[in-house]
Amino acid sequence: MARLVVVANRVALPRERAGAAGGLAVALREALRRNGGLWFGWSGELSDQPSPTPQIVTAGKITYATLDLNAEDHRAYYLGYANSVLWPLFHYRLGLFEFKRDLFAGYLRVNAAFAAALAPLLRPDDVIWVHDYHLIPLAAELRKQGVQNRIGFFLHIPFPTTEVLTALPGHEQLVEALCAYDLIGFQTATDLRAFADYVVSEARGDMAADGTFMAFGRRGRAGAFPISIDTDEFARVAARAAGAPEMRRLGESLVGRALIIGVDRLDYSKGLPHRFEAFGQLMERWPEHRSRVTLMQVAPPTRGQVAQYRALRRELEGLAGHVNGKYAEFDWAPIRYLNRSFTRTTLAGFFRLARIGLVTPLRDGMNLVAKEYVAAQDPDDPGVLVLSRFAGAARELEAALIVNPFDIERMAEAMHHGLTMSLDERKARWSQMMEVLRRNTVVKWRENFLRALREDTAEKAAA
Ligand code: ADP
Ligand code: F6P
Repeated sequence: MARLVVVANRVALPRERAGAAGGLAVALREALRRNGGLWFGWSGELSDQPSPTPQIVTAGKITYATLDLNAEDHRAYYLGYANSVLWPLFHYRLGLFEFKRDLFAGYLRVNAAFAAALAPLLRPDDVIWVHDYHLIPLAAELRKQGVQNRIGFFLHIPFPTTEVLTALPGHEQLVEALCAYDLIGFQTATDLRAFADYVVSEARGDMAADGTFMAFGRRGRAGAFPISIDTDEFARVAARAAGAPEMRRLGESLVGRALIIGVDRLDYSKGLPHRFEAFGQLMERWPEHRSRVTLMQVAPPTRGQVAQYRALRRELEGLAGHVNGKYAEFDWAPIRYLNRSFTRTTLAGFFRLARIGLVTPLRDGMNLVAKEYVAAQDPDDPGVLVLSRFAGAARELEAALIVNPFDIERMAEAMHHGLTMSLDERKARWSQMMEVLRRNTVVKWRENFLRALREDTAEKAAA
């Protein structure tokens, strides 16, 4: 069987004991766990003169090959072009994106360095699968290195509409680089449609109903491959975690109060200020929930060197303090706000204890937390998922209470509805969602994508 080579900026190295926060790291670990392969990317470390040759570590069936970055490349590529240009723009936050040409130059430089370091590790029959917005130009750079393998790409975040994307100076160059892949995977049909619209209306290319496209002189294929979780395994972990000491402590600390949980990286795409405001409204409009409900928001800090992330952290501290100051009693605080990571087992146990899972991003590629929350529930007494219509997961989890996170009043109503929902309704909604999650797992996601990448190879060979 051909070896799978996964390339991503983020690599969840075996030494990282705490749970890696981020959908990409979590899903790729699951995707590589069974059949193994090579995982190539950034080490997460900075050094003055990074070696151009990767450090190699093997653990179980997975070999990890990572490179350090120097401070300037980290600034321009990771903090800059990836997370201050592409991230806000692809999440529809035009007001937050800050374009400078030197950031794009740094982005291309790091992609070229990654390609140069990866090429000597490759075998002729490797299947190469590149992930996310940090590495869009990687296929083009690998081709310059003479690599002829099939190369697929998966975008974990939304693909913006043409109107939004064209606000990016140099968008043509970026999309041309994207079109160098043999297969491009998106999270949802909406993202795929946005890409097709760009190909046709902006690049003057063609795209057929089966996703085959011709653009910038390149032929390739694009499709929607919704990412998911290892559903049964997560459910098992959650059931086992129910007896763990952390769950006992959490249960005891709640003294019979209902728990509402939110678990997100501390990112402005996740809609956390709106969520805190909606929870404040719940307290205001339905005083019967005071002293009876606790919101626990777990939000590990990320990308703390980007100004917008620091500002968000300050804003949330202010908002949590405001709600607590207004409604707390001497023996109850409405919001528990934790800036830290937990192991997956502990998180799974927390999800199972919570009557409501709040997943209300302003825009999100998929959102695995929504799926994890559902999988973790006790089938005999499941909780309620309150889910933003702007998360990719809303396309699949239609039985959740779907909300528009900009509508704070409606979010408060959804929380009230969730807290007062009958057991029958909770079970009916949960069963529908669980059925979807059992059909589409992370294993199916990997198989579907890799099958499409290989099928195309076979077709080309036959032609
Ligand atoms: P994103 O990729 O934007 O971070 P997702 O919801 O798709 O969002 O994925 C987040 C993943 O990170 C989930 O698997 C979630 O369980 C994990 N995660 C989020 N917060 C934490 C945390 N505090 N500790 C451990 N894992 C976390
Ligand atoms: O899934 C979205 C994503 O941006 C991943 O690409 C990324 O690994 C993760 O969230 C966490 O962000 P970061 O790698 O910047 O810590």
